[in-house]
Amino acid sequence: MHNYPLQQKEKETRIIWASGRSTLEAFRFKYKRSGKKLRSNWALFEKLLWIFKILLKLTGVYKKGLANAKNINIKKFPLAFENLPTAFNGFRILHLSDLHIDAIEGFENILIEKIKPLDFDLCVITGDFRRDTTGNFRQILPAMEKILTAIKPQFGILGVLGNHDTYKMVDLLEPLGMRFLVNESVRIEKENQYIHLTGTDDTYYFYTEMALDSMKNLSNGFSVALSHTAELSDIAAENNYDLYLCGHTHGGQICLPGGIPVICHQKGMRERVRGFWQHNKMMGYTSAGAGVSGIPLRFNCPPEITLFELIKKMPDRK
Ligand SMILES: [Fe+2]
Repeated sequence: MHNYPLQQKEKETRIIWASGRSTLEAFRFKYKRSGKKLRSNWALFEKLLWIFKILLKLTGVYKKGLANAKNINIKKFPLAFENLPTAFNGFRILHLSDLHIDAIEGFENILIEKIKPLDFDLCVITGDFRRDTTGNFRQILPAMEKILTAIKPQFGILGVLGNHDTYKMVDLLEPLGMRFLVNESVRIEKENQYIHLTGTDDTYYFYTEMALDSMKNLSNGFSVALSHTAELSDIAAENNYDLYLCGHTHGGQICLPGGIPVICHQKGMRERVRGFWQHNKMMGYTSAGAGVSGIPLRFNCPPEITLFELIKKMPDRK
C-alpha cells in the first residue's frame, strides 16, 4: 500500500504550519477568508441541545434519530472526464467525511462493516475526525486505528483536517496508516501516467494563505482537490482542478421533510450543502458525512459513504 512519505521540504513547512495552527487553536475565533469572527457559543449550544435531547427522548423520537444516524447509505457514482489518463479509467475513490468517530459508541464497527465489501483503489477523508471542536482528542485514536487497519486500498488513505480537528492529530494518525495533506499535494502513478491530489487545512475555522497557495501552480494534468468545506472551490476552479471533494455540512444532519436543512454551518452556497455541484468546468461534491456532531441523530438526511469511479470520457466527435 502506498504511504506517500513526506519530502524534506514538506517536513520543514509542516513545522511552520503546526506552529501557526496551534496559535489559531488557542483563540476562540473563526479565522475565515473574509476575516476574524467570534466562534459560536458552543457551551450555550450544548445546553440547548441537552434540553432538546430530553424532549426527544420523552417522545421516543430520539431512538428513531439514532437509528437513522447508524444507517449509513453507500452512494456510488461514475464520473467521466476527458483529461483523465487512460491508465486511471475505472480508478475508484472512496470518499469518507465527518466521521466524528467518538460521537456514537461503536460507530467504527458499523463503518467498517459497510466499507469491507467495497472495492476501491484510494480512500480520501475530508476532515472532522472528532466530535467536539476543542478539548481531548486521544479518545478517537483506538477507533481510528481499527478503521485504518481494516481499510487497505492499494493507493492508500489520504486525509485533510476539519474544523473539529487539532493539528496534534496529524502526527498521531499518520503512523496508524494514513497520510494527511496539510496544504500539500501528492502524485499517484499508474503505468507511467499520473493524477494529482491536493489537500488543504480547514478554512472554516483556520484559514491561512498557505491553504489558498497550496492550490496554485500545480503542474498540468488531472487533479483532485480535497478540503473540509467548499470555501476554496473558486480558487480550485481557477487553477484547473477537475474534481473537488468536501464535507462539513452533514447535509444539514437534521432536516425538514424533503431533506431541507435547518442548520448547515455554511454561509450561502446553498446548492453546495450536499451532493454534486459545478464551479465553471470543475465538478464538486459535498458529502452529507458519515457521522454526526452536536446531537447523535439524523432526520431526513441519511449518513453516507461515497464511491466514485473515474471514467475516461472520449471527446465528442464534431
Ligand atoms: Fe462535521
